[in-house]
Amino acid sequence: MSDNHPESPADAAREVDALRTQINDHNYRYYALDEPQIPDAEYDRLMRRLAALEADFPDLVSPDSPTQRVGSTPLSAFETVSHELPMLSLDNAFDEADMGNFNRRIQERLKDTAEIEYACEPKLDGIAVSLLYRDGKLERGATRGDGTTGENITQNVRTIDSVPLRLMGQGYPAVLEVRGEIYMPKAGFERLNQTARERDEKVFVNPRNAAAGSLRQLDARITAQRPLEMCAYSVGLVEGGTLPETHTDVLYALQRWGFKINREMRAVQGIDACLAYYADLGARRQSLSYDIDGIVFKVNRLDLQQTLGFVSRAPRWAIAYKFPAQEEMTRLLDVEFQVGRTGAVTPVARLEPVFVGGVTVSNATLHNQDEIERLGVRIGDTVIVRRAGDVIPQIVGVVESQRPDSARTIVFPEACPVCSSPVERVPGEAVARCDGGLICPAQRKEAIKHYASRKAMDIDGLGDKLVEQLVDRDLITAVADLYTLSKENLVSLERMGEKSAENLLVALDSSKTTTLAKFIYALGIREVGEATARNLASHFGTLEALAQAEEDTLQAVRDVGPVVAHFVAEFFRQAHNREAVAALQAAGVNWPEQTPVKAEALPLNDQTWVLTGTLEQLTRDQAKEALQALGAKVAGSVSAKTTCLVAGPGAGSKLAKAESLGIDIRDEAQLLSLLREHGQGEEW
Ligand code: IVH
Repeated sequence: MSDNHPESPADAAREVDALRTQINDHNYRYYALDEPQIPDAEYDRLMRRLAALEADFPDLVSPDSPTQRVGSTPLSAFETVSHELPMLSLDNAFDEADMGNFNRRIQERLKDTAEIEYACEPKLDGIAVSLLYRDGKLERGATRGDGTTGENITQNVRTIDSVPLRLMGQGYPAVLEVRGEIYMPKAGFERLNQTARERDEKVFVNPRNAAAGSLRQLDARITAQRPLEMCAYSVGLVEGGTLPETHTDVLYALQRWGFKINREMRAVQGIDACLAYYADLGARRQSLSYDIDGIVFKVNRLDLQQTLGFVSRAPRWAIAYKFPAQEEMTRLLDVEFQVGRTGAVTPVARLEPVFVGGVTVSNATLHNQDEIERLGVRIGDTVIVRRAGDVIPQIVGVVESQRPDSARTIVFPEACPVCSSPVERVPGEAVARCDGGLICPAQRKEAIKHYASRKAMDIDGLGDKLVEQLVDRDLITAVADLYTLSKENLVSLERMGEKSAENLLVALDSSKTTTLAKFIYALGIREVGEATARNLASHFGTLEALAQAEEDTLQAVRDVGPVVAHFVAEFFRQAHNREAVAALQAAGVNWPEQTPVKAEALPLNDQTWVLTGTLEQLTRDQAKEALQALGAKVAGSVSAKTTCLVAGPGAGSKLAKAESLGIDIRDEAQLLSLLREHGQGEEW
C-alpha cells in the first residue's frame, strides 16, 4: 500500500477495502483476542490513511467502516425494540447447597445420574445487550429492558471497539443474534472517575453504573469516549445456518466470527468441578481486570438445554452462583478524625455494622474533605459501602432519598483532635495535616508503630496496642526510648506477662542489628517506601552521606524525583530528626558498612523479575529482597517486559504466559546459584 493519492476511484475502493480488512483484523486481535500484533502507532497510521481516503472519496464511506465508531448526531429518545426471543434472566445460588439442588434437579429431569458437563464462566457485572447481525452486518443493538422489549442503542454499541461491525470468517448464519455483556474494565473506570474528579464532575459509584450511564447516552459521541467492552456469552435468534452442539463450541465459533469471549470459560464434568472453579475464580476475583459478581454455570450440551427448558423467566439449565456482595447499604453513625504518621487527618466513618465483601464492616474511610463534599454525605445518612478484596472499605454513595431530618453536616476540625495543634491544608493538596509533628501523640504513636513494623526494624511482639499504651503512659516519647524500656516498665502494662516482657526485650535488642536500607525505611520519611529506602541506601552507602545530600544529589538516585528528594532533605534538615537518629545510634542501632553502588552498576539493573509457585528454601520476601538488592524490579505479573520468571512447584498461569512469550524461566536452585554468585544469600 502506498501513501500516494490513488489513481482512480476504483483504486481507492480497493485500497479502502484492504485497509478495512486489515484494521478489522488488528482490532479483533487487540480487543477480542488480547494479542495485538502491531504497535498502536502503526494501527493509528492505518486508521488515518483510511480516514483520509474516505474524506477524498465520500462515496466510499459505509456505516461498517472502522472510522465510523465515533458516534453521530444525538437522538431525542431511544426507540423501543421487541426481542424476537425473550432475554431471560438467571436463577441465583448463594451456597453449595443451592448448587447441589440445582445439579440434582437437572439429573432428575434428565433421568440420568451420570455427571453433567457444565460450561463455567464469570458473571460479568455490566449491562446485557442483544446484537443482531444480518448477512454478517451489525443491524441493531438493544438493551435487555424487561426481557421482552428493550431500547434501540445501535448508535451506541457501534462505538464499542470489541463489537464487530461486520462479522469475520465464514459459516455464520444469515441472521444471528449475539447476546452478551457490555462492561467497563476497572482500569478504565478509575481513569474515567479520575478525570471527572479533576474536572469537578460527578463520579460513578462503580464500573457497572458507569457502563450503564455510558450506554444510555442519547449522544453516541459521549459513549464513544467511554472505555466500554463487550463480551459475548450466548446467542438468541438464529436463521439460515446452524451452530455447534455445545455452548462452549458456540462461543468459540463466535470468537472466530470476531467477538470477544471470556478467556476464563471452561467446560467441566460434574458439580464438584463447578465448585472448584467457583473457589478458584473467587480467589482471583480481585486480580481480574473487570468486576464480576458470581459464576454462571450452564449445561453445556444444547440438546440437553432444550430438553430442560424454562420455568417462568429463567432457564432450568443455568444458574448464577453469586459471590458475597461487595456493596451494601448501611447507616453512617458518626465520623471520627484519625491522625496518621505524617499528621494527615483522615475522616473515618463509623457505620452500623454490615456484612459486605465477606466480612462485617463497621468502619470505612472517607479519605478527605473533598471526598466528603463530593459525596455530600451527612451523619445519619444511609450510605453505600463497598469492600472489594483486602482494600479498606469505602463509602461510594449516599441514598439521599432516605436522609432523615436529623442528618448533620460533617465539620472538618480546624484543630488536631489529639494534640490541638492547628490542622492545615497545603493549597493544591487534598490532605489536611496536623502541624504538631512529634509533639502530637498520635503522630508519635504512628511513627513508633512504623519503626517497629516487620519491614522496618521488625520488632517482634511490639504490636499497635502496646505502642499505644507505652505512649499513653508516657513510658516512651521518642523511638529511641524503646531501647531504654526495662522489664519492670513492661510488666506493668495490660496483658503483659513476665515471659512476654522478656521476649520483647530480646526482640528489641536484636532489632539493633539491622541494614541501612531498613533503618532508612524505619525513619518514616514521607514518600520513602521500602524500595526507595533501598535505592537510597545502596546509592549513598552511609547514613552520613545521605543526611548531607542536597536535593539535586538525591535526585540522581533511581526513582527519586523532586518531591521525594525534598522530603528526604527536609527530614535531615530538621534538628529534632537528626537528634532522634543520633539517639538511636547511641542506643546501639547499627548496620554493616556498605560501599555505595550506583544503580547502573548493579548486576540486575533494568531487569524485571517475577516469582511464582512455591519456593522451598527461600521465603518470597527473601527472594524479592535479594533480587532487589541486585538492582532488579520484582513485579507481580508476567508481561513482555519480564526478564525472567522464577517458577516453583504449583506454578500456573504465570508460567504458561511466560512460556508463550518466550521468557527466560528458572527454578529456585538456579535463582539461588545466581544470588550466591553475586554474594547474596549466604545465610540460606
Ligand atoms: S447467561 C439464559 N452468562 O446476568 C441465560 N448471563 O440474570 C441468560 N450475565 O442480565 C444469561 N454474565 O446480562 C449469562 N456469562 C454470563 C453472564 C450473564 C453476566 C448477566 C446477564 C443477565 C444476568 C442474568
